[in-house]
Amino acid sequence: MAKTATEIADDLEIQQMRELGDRMVTKSLLYNLANGDQSLGNGFGVGTGRQLLHGEDPRLPAMPEKPTLIDFFKLRFSSMQQHLLQSARLAQKNGLPEKMVLACLLHDIAVTGFIRSDHGYWGAQLIEPYVDEEVSWSIRMHQSLRFFADESVGYAYPDNYVRMFGADYVPEPYIVADYERARKHKWYMSARMICVNDLYSFEDNVAVELVEFEDVIGRHFKQPPEGLGNDNSPAAHMWRTLRRPCNPL
Ligand SMILES: [Fe+2]
Ligand SMILES: [Fe+2]
Repeated sequence: MAKTATEIADDLEIQQMRELGDRMVTKSLLYNLANGDQSLGNGFGVGTGRQLLHGEDPRLPAMPEKPTLIDFFKLRFSSMQQHLLQSARLAQKNGLPEKMVLACLLHDIAVTGFIRSDHGYWGAQLIEPYVDEEVSWSIRMHQSLRFFADESVGYAYPDNYVRMFGADYVPEPYIVADYERARKHKWYMSARMICVNDLYSFEDNVAVELVEFEDVIGRHFKQPPEGLGNDNSPAAHMWRTLRRPCNPL
């Protein structure tokens, strides 16, 4: 006989408890805020008699001891990474220098793999210790440049921003200020090239493989030998959080 929805939900819960060794999953405030909930719930498991999930999360794919950027692509990032791969391929086709192909490959790394809000800034910070300064600067600045047209390179205000944000949307003052700063900067055109090669609609029938960019990554991303997160860089904690997002502290 087919199981009822309640029975299926119960089975799932039992299976998850088994996987977790009866440990409780705690979530950061940020996850709850995103659900409109300004609380940590029972964030310390008080009164439950249960330990908290910490360390490796059995619900997520296991990571190697010394994870590389490619490991994070494969074992943590969402399927939206196809957008990154398609942008990188377009940049390559348009003859951008390899360093900027890497910038296009990583431009939305925060959306794909970490935090969406202020994604250009988070993305730049995540990779800053491992890439050329021009790459992280360009990724940071594409956040603001994408809201402003530049006809000299054929970049128009994206149509789908009208759909997403409304026709009367005005970027916030910090975005305008960064745009103005970027315009005067020697690397303006590099950041602008990220926008030019940013594919705003997925090409459903084109699947680009990460393996195509392994050489570019190898030449332009300074992979720490001890593994991302195990290194002592200013961004190492961000990679550790991505590896073990439910650590309670
Ligand atoms: Fe972006
Ligand atoms: Fe993008």
